[in-house]
Amino acid sequence: MKRVYFDNAASTPLLPEVIEKMTTVLTECYGNPSSIHFFGRKSRTIIEESRKTIANYLNASLGEVFFTSCATESNNLCLKMAVEHLGIERIISSPTEHHCVLHTIEALDAKIESVQLSVNEFGSIDLNELQSILEADSKKTLVSLMYVNNEIGTKHPVDLIAEICEKNNAFLHCDAVQAIGKFDVDTSKNKISFLSGSAHKFHGPKGIGFVYINQDNIIPPLIHGGAQERNMRSGTENVAGIAGMALALEMAIEEKEERKAKILSLRNQLKLGLKELIPEIKFNGLQGEDEFLYTVLSASFPAGAKTELLNFNMDIAGIAVSGGSACSSGVENTSHVLEAIGHDPKRKTIRFSFSHLNTMEEVEYVLQKISEFYPKNLGVE
Ligand SMILES: Cc1ncc(COP(=O)(O)O)c(C=O)c1O
Repeated sequence: MKRVYFDNAASTPLLPEVIEKMTTVLTECYGNPSSIHFFGRKSRTIIEESRKTIANYLNASLGEVFFTSCATESNNLCLKMAVEHLGIERIISSPTEHHCVLHTIEALDAKIESVQLSVNEFGSIDLNELQSILEADSKKTLVSLMYVNNEIGTKHPVDLIAEICEKNNAFLHCDAVQAIGKFDVDTSKNKISFLSGSAHKFHGPKGIGFVYINQDNIIPPLIHGGAQERNMRSGTENVAGIAGMALALEMAIEEKEERKAKILSLRNQLKLGLKELIPEIKFNGLQGEDEFLYTVLSASFPAGAKTELLNFNMDIAGIAVSGGSACSSGVENTSHVLEAIGHDPKRKTIRFSFSHLNTMEEVEYVLQKISEFYPKNLGVE
């Protein structure tokens, strides 16, 4: 059966080069990186070389990059420890942040004031609102805003947000999970305090991520133990995962423009084709040049019986997409992001998310199948 994968914002396939690198590391570098003998040093070298790759990309120093198990852990670490140890009294975020940020803020609710900025129909925040909240009083504040939205693709203007935070002495935490390897994420230019990334979103393995912690913000660890990662994150390092993540990032950086051009052409073709087949279709999130995550196309289908069955029929046709909501435990709930942008609940959103491994033929296959679900001239009902 034909299967096509358009769910790359959920997770990406491992590249063969990454598998090869990880297999070599798993086979040859079994020493504990904390051991001082040859085998330990060999593993340690892999970790430190990988750290260099991540730090160079972020324009950060080596001491500012720490390996974690995933971005969820990275985000928990930054938010919880900033509140505990930097005297944060208030966190300003937006309702379209990822659940690992929103639920962490909720868990901190008793200790801080939580403010959510409003978002418009495209999922954009109002910078004036952020500025006036910060200017209104001098509460010690952490602003937590993502680089690009994982469901609808809207990009936040991180450089302008960082400027406002700096002017008002607020810390900035940026969940950059969907941006890593696709945009030039520069922690130094943008005065970011904390930032997170996750390998499985850029063709690296699952179970490995990183956190950038600006050297001016000393926070203690979330996980205590053997003092690995300069005591920021205890636990024996996932050496093969770290090596795989670094190689996947190196490849993403090297092929960035080429991948972007290919993905944009696939995205444009799908967008045009969908519009032709279903004129009532709409696309969620900002759509202007450089305003969106080019790997995501969030399509809002008109209400109707066919649309109700769309997600199911896509799966039957071997097409992997997301149903407009991040389903974390196999259960699809209404998306908090779509709710926040006022998406009509009668319509159905499908998130197509691309990688450079997708082909035009796969896009044509999706369009062919959708044309079968929505035969021309029969309307959407
Ligand atoms: C924007 C965003 N933040 C955080 C995460 C969580 O990343 P991880 O799977 O590494 O915990 C995801 C994954 O879906 C994401 O898209």
